[in-house]
Amino acid sequence: MKLTAFSAALGSVFLLASGEPTENVRRKETSEPLLPSQDPFYTAPPNWEQTAPGTILRIRTAPGNVTTVIANTSAVWNIVYRTTDSNYKPSWAVTTVLAPLQNVSAPDNGTHNSLLSLQIAYNTAYPDSTPSIMLYGAASAPTFGGPSTADDIAYMLGKGWYVTIPDHEGPLASFGLGVQEGHATIDSIRATLNSDILPKQIPTKYAMWGYSGGSVASSWAAELQEQYAPELKFAGMAIGGLVPNITKGLQLSGTPFAGLIPGLFLGITSQDAEAREYLVSRLKTSGPYNATGFLAALRYDVGTLFLKYPGQEIGEYFVGGLADLRAPVLERISRSNTWQGYHGIPQTPVFVYKAIQDEFSPVSDSDELVQRWCGIDVDVRYERNEVGEHIDEINNGRLRALEWLETVFDGTLEKTGCDVRNVSVAVNTGI
Ligand SMILES: *[C@@H]1O[C@H](CO)[C@@H](O)[C@H](O)[C@H]1NC(C)=O
Ligand SMILES: *[C@@H]1O[C@H](CO)[C@@H](O)[C@H](O)[C@H]1NC(C)=O
Ligand SMILES: *[C@@H]1O[C@H](CO)[C@@H](O)[C@H](O)[C@H]1NC(C)=O
Ligand SMILES: *[C@@H]1O[C@H](CO)[C@@H](O)[C@H](O)[C@H]1NC(C)=O
Ligand SMILES: *[C@@H]1O[C@H](CO)[C@@H](O)[C@H](O)[C@H]1NC(C)=O
Ligand SMILES: *[C@@H]1O[C@H](CO)[C@@H](O)[C@H](O)[C@H]1NC(C)=O
Ligand SMILES: *[C@@H]1O[C@H](CO)[C@@H](O)[C@H](O)[C@H]1NC(C)=O
Repeated sequence: MKLTAFSAALGSVFLLASGEPTENVRRKETSEPLLPSQDPFYTAPPNWEQTAPGTILRIRTAPGNVTTVIANTSAVWNIVYRTTDSNYKPSWAVTTVLAPLQNVSAPDNGTHNSLLSLQIAYNTAYPDSTPSIMLYGAASAPTFGGPSTADDIAYMLGKGWYVTIPDHEGPLASFGLGVQEGHATIDSIRATLNSDILPKQIPTKYAMWGYSGGSVASSWAAELQEQYAPELKFAGMAIGGLVPNITKGLQLSGTPFAGLIPGLFLGITSQDAEAREYLVSRLKTSGPYNATGFLAALRYDVGTLFLKYPGQEIGEYFVGGLADLRAPVLERISRSNTWQGYHGIPQTPVFVYKAIQDEFSPVSDSDELVQRWCGIDVDVRYERNEVGEHIDEINNGRLRALEWLETVFDGTLEKTGCDVRNVSVAVNTGI
């Protein structure tokens, strides 16, 4: 199965790349994964800008031991594909595709393939911290007491679903740039469908799932899809811990999660030289809270961000305090890239779950986004959990999301219209 599927996948690249020099498509197998900055696979081949979004630029079997780390996996691929950045310029990104032990979704007796597009909340401006690399440690990463990402993926593979996991922040680690993240998510699905990894005899149903930073990528993909990828038809989208207005992340200053702020502002300025220059120009050059300390976040993964800045008042790093982060040059990016609900209408049923006491993003923002969608007849089921906060809802919402996604794939999802309800769900995670 592994070899057959791999040759099939390669076949499709050569097909797609026909007419282009063959060195455009490079197969590289290494026994150990390298960091993206060290690994030539994480580059685009010559003339890639002329290809259509979603074109496969490179594909390989994933190096190392992913099939050992993630249970229920038969094979894993990395795909470099063409996408479009936040400046609407050609860009590329990488997605990781995992195949289940059995090809077809069991619930409807094999009338379609099921493909889950999983958006991981990697929340960092560090280009070497990406889901395609994090997967190798997915079984041992901190889980806040619940199942790990490896468990989530194994659960989905165990249902017979294929899973595609984009490095949706792109090569510059553009944490928080919604247009970038949405495009990269959409094109990862196109690239996966363009490969021969999924059996072609039957159609593929595809749906998205993301929590927190992952929900941002999923939501932007849903907002941008109608205009950017009109040929796609999502079967559903499950999003939890929504952050419809990331600018409000500034309220995490002084909390245990303050480290998200340096990551976010370095992320949203990653594709705008003027904004980055402004940001750096406002950093203090001496004292305990200085430019060196802030810019170090360019090399921190999300776990390290939490470790390095807990409780810090991030305004201390800036000459003009937090107000510097509300300057027009940054606000301009926020308007086009960090406020959800203004770019388009999700053309797919949506399941939303959110802790009422979420301290990362006020529940009122999620209420408002859902009301917008409801007002234009998007099919939304919205569960507001009376229990827990942002981190708790990862585990409290996990099974509800997975079970909803199962109904998406097995065809039993019922049209709910606008269904907003308060729930009280506490999953005992033993902590
Ligand atoms: C997988 O490989 C990584 C190094 O790439 C290693 O740290 C890890 O222990 C391995 N895991 C398993 C389950 O083999
Ligand atoms: C699928 O198969 C099961 C068991 O073989 C059967 O009970 C069920 O009716 C079938 N469902 C469909 C949609 O054909
Ligand atoms: C693997 O899939 C089976 C179903 O085929 C499931 O029972 C099992 O829990 C899955 N493993 C994990 C670790 O989720
Ligand atoms: C999966 O699909 C491929 C291509 O259709 C086929 O060759 C292979 O036998 C299938 N594998 C399983 C486990 O059903
Ligand atoms: C997002 O939050 C910022 C900061 O509170 C606020 O200025 C802005 O108006 C909000 N945007 C939307 C669309 O609500
Ligand atoms: C910058 O901040 C770090 C951490 O507090 C400190 O070690 C360093 O001395 C500071 N640099 C300057 C120039 O003050
Ligand atoms: C849900 O709880 C909120 C308070 O958080 C309340 O205002 C609202 O009426 C409740 N909604 C429903 C549908 O019960």
